[in-house]
Amino acid sequence: MTDTSSAPILLLTGASSGIGAALAAAYAARGWRLVLIARRAELLEQLARDCGLAPDDPTRLRLIAADVRDTDRLRTEADTLLREWGCPQVVIANAGISHGVDLSQAEDLDVATDIMDINWAAALATLAPFIAPMRARGSGALVGIASVAGVRGLPCHAAYCASKAALIRSLESLRVELRPSGVKVVTISPGYIDTAMTAGNRFRMPFLMSPAVFASSALRAIDTGRAYATIPWQMGLLSKFLHVVPRAVFDHYAGRYGRKARKENCEPCQAMTRRNRIRRGGKSSR
Ligand SMILES: NC(=O)c1ccc[n+]([C@@H]2O[C@H](COP(=O)([O-])OP(=O)(O)OC[C@H]3O[C@@H](n4cnc5c(N)ncnc54)[C@H](OP(=O)(O)O)[C@@H]3O)[C@@H](O)[C@H]2O)c1
Repeated sequence: MTDTSSAPILLLTGASSGIGAALAAAYAARGWRLVLIARRAELLEQLARDCGLAPDDPTRLRLIAADVRDTDRLRTEADTLLREWGCPQVVIANAGISHGVDLSQAEDLDVATDIMDINWAAALATLAPFIAPMRARGSGALVGIASVAGVRGLPCHAAYCASKAALIRSLESLRVELRPSGVKVVTISPGYIDTAMTAGNRFRMPFLMSPAVFASSALRAIDTGRAYATIPWQMGLLSKFLHVVPRAVFDHYAGRYGRKARKENCEPCQAMTRRNRIRRGGKSSR
């Protein structure tokens, strides 16, 4: 594609690493114009070079070093984009953080608030400016990267699970609202993907998938406008089971599962993880 002025547009948050970087690379390979948002500018520039693009090429790329919690900035950048390039075909709210929280520790309430602000409030603020222009055009895809963790409440994950459950519900509301308009709202729930977010996990991660393989499945889901996709599919089966399993059974088994570490190491979580490891005969994949 040589004339880039008519190439479709992707806007993506959390593009500097992991899933976001893989999604950006997949759309770059299709010749799309990219609007990439994350705080670490140097990683965005490196990603552009890795995709064979000049970081300062104004016809193909807009690299925006911003914190998604700055929702005024998101709105200003969206207005500029709509004025100068037009309305994107695909907007993906992907930026996210994950920490275990121990709600008995006062300081973890701030961590919990941060998780909700980034994973839920900022995700909605990313999509919001494009609802009206996509509706007016009658096409486009608004995509949220949720998580299998949004299906049930996992121990030491009170904030992350809540943030992803909230995102799943908000996207569902939006999907139903926009159904008659031709705009697709796509929820993608990753299982375990091999990124910086999971690198520190000290528990077994079934069906761990590379970001590149995840990205190619995610693009298929977005292309076809799927309402909800769990990737990999095996985690989709697990997720359906988790959804329906009675509380007593869930509580019994979920309590034994490996826990996400606190931002500042949480001793109860670490102790539980050690106990689980011993119970499993010391088996742990990472
Ligand atoms: N990896 C998994 O197994 C997994 C499973 C389920 C769901 N997910 C979801 O997938 C998404 C991507 O995660 P990942 O695994 O790719 O993790 P990652 O490699 O840690 O990437 C997280 C991305 O989010 C960006 N980000 C975080 N806070 C931000 C902020 N305040 N402002 C702007 N950007 C921010 C980071 O960029 P900067 O630090 O440069 O700002 C980075 O690009 C997240 O929503 C995560 O919850 C991941």
